[in-house]
Amino acid sequence: MKKHSVLGAMQPREFLSTYWQKKPLLIRQAIPDFQPPVTRDALFSLASRDDVEARLITNFNKQWTMQHGPLGQLPALTRKNWTLLVQGVNLHDDQADALLNRFRFIPDARLDDLMISYATDTGGVGAHFDSYDVFLLQAQGQRRWCIGAQQDLSLREDLPLKILRNFTPTQEFVLNPGDMLYLPPHYAHEGIAVGECMTCSIGFRAPSWQELGEAFMNFMADSVELPGRYADPGLQPARRPAQIGADMLGRVATQFKKLASRPDDIALFLGEYLSEPKPNVWYDAPQSPLTAGRFAAGARRRGLRLHRKTRMLYQGKFIFINGESLLPVAADRRLLQALADQRTASPDLIAAASTDLRESLYQWYRDGWIVLA
Ligand code: SIN
Ligand code: CO
Repeated sequence: MKKHSVLGAMQPREFLSTYWQKKPLLIRQAIPDFQPPVTRDALFSLASRDDVEARLITNFNKQWTMQHGPLGQLPALTRKNWTLLVQGVNLHDDQADALLNRFRFIPDARLDDLMISYATDTGGVGAHFDSYDVFLLQAQGQRRWCIGAQQDLSLREDLPLKILRNFTPTQEFVLNPGDMLYLPPHYAHEGIAVGECMTCSIGFRAPSWQELGEAFMNFMADSVELPGRYADPGLQPARRPAQIGADMLGRVATQFKKLASRPDDIALFLGEYLSEPKPNVWYDAPQSPLTAGRFAAGARRRGLRLHRKTRMLYQGKFIFINGESLLPVAADRRLLQALADQRTASPDLIAAASTDLRESLYQWYRDGWIVLA
């Protein structure tokens, strides 16, 4: 078994060909001796911050309520039936980031975040489905999962959260710490805490075609270049003045053909779009930054590491980092691709960087995107 495996004895290849986007899988002791990346108190403290996305879901007296963070005040621990969901824990905690990184047998472009839920006894978020794949890794205590492949995904109305109108589960499992349940998109499920518990959800991103298409049109709008202006030197007298003539339509169509996207446009758009940080992500610039010279000497001695909030991707000749794109020279490209894949760059690699790249690295350090290893 591989040192950092997350699928028990199963190899990623087998998981992807048999289960991924196809059917659920329960893996007992997917991560043996698993310890939650954060304590309950650390999770509560994250939920009270305004740069952290958190929700509190209660089901007291058979009434569902949902409250968005920051959540300074939580119900009493002795009270049953409430759940706290904290999104993007990987952005704020190294252990959580390390846990998410274990799932990098799935490309970064598809990995979203690590959500951690805390629930008191019988707490849960109700029977629902998600539009994305999810790994539900039990972190602490026990949770009972009921799941079903039902076609009827209609939701109850007038509730503050999405709850299935009819839920007819066909399987039930109680998960212990280290056990993990994988569910493909649109698989109905409900998790109920058996005593106090914490669950990690490893979530994925799959933008809708509509969302992607709209974002692409915005991207293209920024790069439109159509010099000149409408002109018709051969204009004939109008017999039907209100009609838009075929010649006008033709001239406009000819210009619009120049707007068609090229493969580079798609690669650039996709890389910038997918590496763009979420709106609530702020980078912490170093408070007393090193000078460029000291930073370069430190990087050559210790190497560099991407900050856990940094999203770095590449495609062909392009490199993308936190929503920006670069077109580096071939030698720098190899260095940057290694940094993106490994999320670290060794001193040897750094020593080979061009002057241009060293300047970019220093700027990224000043922006809090990378740190000395
Ligand atoms: C939870 O952890 O309580 C909810 C996770 C999910 O059902 O997707
Ligand atoms: Co769910």
